[in-house]
Amino acid sequence: MIKIKASEITPEHLYRSRRRFMVGVGALAASVALSACGAEDATPSPTTNAAASGEGTSAVTPASIGATATQEPVPPTASIQSDELGDALTDYESVIGYNNYYEFTTKKEGAAKLSQNFQSSPWTVEVGGLVNKPGVYDIDDLRKKFTRQERIYRLRCVEAWSMIIPWTGFPLAELLKEVEPTSKAKYLRFETLYDPDSMPGLKNNSYQWPYIEGLRVDEAMNNLTLLATGLYGKDLLPQNGAPVRLVVPWKYGFKSIKSIVKIDLVEEMPVSLWMAAAPHEYGFYANVNPQVDHPRWSQGSERRIGELGRRKTLMFNGYAEEVASLYDGMDLTEYF
Ligand code: MTE
Repeated sequence: MIKIKASEITPEHLYRSRRRFMVGVGALAASVALSACGAEDATPSPTTNAAASGEGTSAVTPASIGATATQEPVPPTASIQSDELGDALTDYESVIGYNNYYEFTTKKEGAAKLSQNFQSSPWTVEVGGLVNKPGVYDIDDLRKKFTRQERIYRLRCVEAWSMIIPWTGFPLAELLKEVEPTSKAKYLRFETLYDPDSMPGLKNNSYQWPYIEGLRVDEAMNNLTLLATGLYGKDLLPQNGAPVRLVVPWKYGFKSIKSIVKIDLVEEMPVSLWMAAAPHEYGFYANVNPQVDHPRWSQGSERRIGELGRRKTLMFNGYAEEVASLYDGMDLTEYF
């Protein structure tokens, strides 16, 4: 069991503006009870090759986590935070110590160490394609230009584990309004940095690099869709996708692409890295859906990191009210 440090909990005043924020009763007990991350080591990772599963069996060891997050220091507080369902935040050590970042490694507890020297500054994000005002944005300018908000979201990995993470970021819609998509633009295509010198996992030729993801324009415009630059009130660490990543809380975690260098507005549906790797297993939409199982495992329940036992998985990860209408009339077993 790992004790959470008071300094790692974001102070209450930072969270007041958050949508439907609640403090959960009994959240303290839940937030300090971190179990070994490999409790479900039978669960396969998002890969066609079960042998490449990143689900390890050892506990998170914060001492092995190399890089230290700076900026936006968080003053000590005793307040405990939770999402709008009253679920406690996943502790900081787990959020930064148990990651999927295949450009570094398929081992969840190895990404932090292997990415510790990753250079996320200077950094630019190129936004182009079917837009009236294409641009190359410096990450520091993006941070200044758009007011960052705190959002507590559930992250549900397709591998059936989940976390609750307090992100800092701004709605992707704000950037889109700035570049003005043309009427031909139907989708967004996101691209992660491809740098074999600093990303050892790129040698893994089971995947077609760079990591690509996509959204429909209306999904990207939804208020829940965030470009995150921080979590727990600190800048993102490399293993979480520094300096800027997508967060789409009603979709499986693999849609939330890390370390973005390029966003293109396009007419055709982009083919993501996972669609290319295993099209029968990973669709474009990837909405969290307990009724549509992965061909190799159930999506009906999940393991919340830090908890024993399993929870029921919620339709759209609990965000149906905000997003279900995006899919009116669509057969979600076909468009999985
Ligand atoms: N983005 C890139 N570029 N590479 C990855 O391997 N993994 C995805 C997603 N974004 C991934 C990525 C998966 S499968 C998940 S579950 C989340 O990142 C995990 O985010 P976290 O490590 O911050 O929890």
